[in-house]
Amino acid sequence: MTDTSQETMPKRRRFLDKHALLEKNAMLLLVFSFLVVTVGGIVQIAPLFYLENTIEKVEGMRPYSPLELTGREIYIREGCYVCHSQMIRPMRDEVERYGHYSLAAESMYDHPFQWGSKRTGPDMARVGGRYSDAWHVDHLKDPQSVVPESIMPKYAFLADRLIKPEHIEDLLSAHRMVGVPYTDEMIEQAAADFTAQADPDSDYDGLLERYPGAQVRNFDDAGGISEMDAMIAYLQMLGTLVDFSTFTPDASR
Ligand code: HEC
Repeated sequence: MTDTSQETMPKRRRFLDKHALLEKNAMLLLVFSFLVVTVGGIVQIAPLFYLENTIEKVEGMRPYSPLELTGREIYIREGCYVCHSQMIRPMRDEVERYGHYSLAAESMYDHPFQWGSKRTGPDMARVGGRYSDAWHVDHLKDPQSVVPESIMPKYAFLADRLIKPEHIEDLLSAHRMVGVPYTDEMIEQAAADFTAQADPDSDYDGLLERYPGAQVRNFDDAGGISEMDAMIAYLQMLGTLVDFSTFTPDASR
C-alpha cells in the first residue's frame, strides 16, 4: 500500500499559501471579490435578456374590470398591503394554508404589484370566494365582530362613500400606458361596465365578454355603488381567474 498523503499534502499547502496572499492583501481581495460577483451577476442576469418571455402564459388571466380596478386602488390607498401579502410561496405550509402557489402571470397586470413584505394578517392572493360578500361587509366594518381576536382596523366608512366612475377611463388609460392590454372598447365602455358589475339587473353581457369570469352582483347589498362594493368586488376575484384543477406548469421553459 502506498501512502498518498505524503504527496498531496504539500500540493494543498502550496494552494493555501497562494490563498493566504489574497487574505493578507485587502486590495487584491477586493479585486478578486469584484470579479467573482461580476461573473456571478452576468450568469444570472444575461439569460433574461435572451428569453422571449419570463412570465409563462396562463389561461384565464385578464386585466381587472373597472370596478375591480377601483377596489384595488382603494386597497392601495388604505394601505392594506402593509399587513397583507399577495404572494403564496411554493412551500408546503403556505400551499396547505392558502392554496396553489402564486404564478408570475397572476400579478402581470398589477401596477404596482401587491406582493407585500409583511403578513400581520393572512395572505390575500386566493381570498376570492373564501367568504361570502356579507362576511366581508361585516369584517370590513368591524373585524372583531366576526374574528374576536382580530387586530385589523375598522373600515366601516367604505360603505358610506358612494363613488361614480368619473375618472375611470383615465385610470384604465394609465394602466394601458404601463402595459396592461386594455382595448379602446374597454376604455370607452369603462363607466358602463363599472356600474353594470354592481347591478345584477343591468345588461352585463358586454362586461362578461370583455372581462370573462367577472362576478356581477350588489356586493354590499346596499343602495348605490360604494367603495365597499368596489373593495369586495376586488377581494372576491383575487386568485380566482386561473383554474387550478386543469392548470399544468409549462415544463418546456
Ligand atoms: C394592522 C394590520 C391590518 C391592516 C392594515 C389590514 N388588515 Fe386585514 N387582517 C389583519 C389581520 C390580523 C387579519 C386576521 C384576523 C381577521 O380575520 O380579522 C386580517 C384579515 C383580513 C381578511 C380575512 C382573510 C382571511 O383569509 O381570513 C381580509 C379579507 C382582510 N383582512 C382584508 C383587509 C383589507 C381589504 C384591508 C384594507 C382596507 C385590510 N385587511 C387591512 C390585519 C390587517
